[in-house]
Amino acid sequence: MRTRVAIIGAGPAGMLLAHLLAAEGIESVVVETRSEEYVASRIRAGILEHSTVDLLRAAGLGERLDREGHEHRGIYLQWPEERHHLDFVDLTGRSVFVYGQTEVQKDLVAARRAAGQSVHYEVADTALHDLETDHPSVTFTDSTGRPRRLVADVVVGCDGSFGPSRGAVPASLRRTSERVYPYSWLGILADVAPSTDELIYAWHDDGFAMHSMRSATVSRLYLQVPNDTDVADWSDDRIWDALATRLGHGQDGWQLTPGPVTEKSVLPMRSFVQTPMRHGRLFLAGDAAHIVPPTGAKGLNLAVADVGLLAPALVDLLGRGDARLADAYSDTALRRVWRCTHFSWWMTSMLHRSGDDFDAQLQLSQLRWVTSSEAGATGLAENYAGLPIGM
Ligand code: FAD
Ligand code: DHB
Repeated sequence: MRTRVAIIGAGPAGMLLAHLLAAEGIESVVVETRSEEYVASRIRAGILEHSTVDLLRAAGLGERLDREGHEHRGIYLQWPEERHHLDFVDLTGRSVFVYGQTEVQKDLVAARRAAGQSVHYEVADTALHDLETDHPSVTFTDSTGRPRRLVADVVVGCDGSFGPSRGAVPASLRRTSERVYPYSWLGILADVAPSTDELIYAWHDDGFAMHSMRSATVSRLYLQVPNDTDVADWSDDRIWDALATRLGHGQDGWQLTPGPVTEKSVLPMRSFVQTPMRHGRLFLAGDAAHIVPPTGAKGLNLAVADVGLLAPALVDLLGRGDARLADAYSDTALRRVWRCTHFSWWMTSMLHRSGDDFDAQLQLSQLRWVTSSEAGATGLAENYAGLPIGM
């Protein structure tokens, strides 16, 4: 098979890239190990920052987002006995949207299917070849068991944290930076109306807790737990009790309403960046190049921002023979990647209990400053609501 751009991974990065390229007349083929249903039903991110919403709207993907997503002006930050609202719109003129990654994925799949996009789901044995030539290729076994070779002008690795693309950069040329955090998140999805109008991020002596949501009838909540946590040790009652304590049930009359839990899982937390994000005719985008801990709600947004930079770079390279944006892609993308990596590390460090009381006092001092100083609040708001793509 021959195409212009071979895309590995049909997650948000891969599918959005295919969409943006097609809008400029550049054909691509996507290969994906999982089934279409599996990819679309993975419960992951829930918050879209301002630039992500702008980009999705500009790409013709904003209709359901505008109808069914919920615009939030800011977040609540709290610790025992205190809850403060940060209004991002007042502070920066930018808001965020609650719209699940599952919904973004469904919109992308529908748009690509309507356009006749070629996506090979349930492939195996994906391998990358000849990346330092102008005819790189991807080999794989398709869902019927047939071996295939896809020859392209460019290969893009959008294959997330476990895919083969990042390892295809020679070991002598790649650098990795990593931080593993000494705690995880236990996340639940529950069929109950959210007990809050906007997200609550809570510092508590027992550990961090967060109240997020997916819709008027579905809540998403998280608890900080130790790294070796077995989800079987957390009954629904134990989870709701811990959430009530940490989120301040009863504080100033606020009530947390529990409900039926429909999904429950433990998420490890780490920061990871691999540089450069380009090698020869291979480009990396999204989780294939970088992972952030979820506290700053940045993972999906960073994947979208990478693709927002990469699509015009590939259009120039393949459509006009102009390599300037492609040559600058890694450096340009990494500026934002490191900004979001810092913000995610900072939010994580400010809100999670380490067990050390000196750390706790520093965290509380930082929280008091961020919620009482306009300069402190604006810094958080600017990063959370998102800097412009290409900053
Ligand atoms: P992915 O969505 O991971 O897509 C990569 C795709 O590549 C996958 O579909 C995978 O199956 C495919 N693939 C892998 N290997 C191969 C191969 N060999 N051949 C072909 N295809 C392959 N972010 C937030 O902002 N907020 C959150 O609350 C949040 N929660 C998360 C919870 C979990 C459990 C996880 C794992 C991530 C979470 N994230 C969150 C991060 C966010 O979901 C990711 O940053 C986002 O999905 C990145 O998109 P992507 O397209 O780069 O990668
Ligand atoms: C969600 C996840 C996050 O990591 C976050 O910071 C905000 C919201 C969510 O799943 O809704």
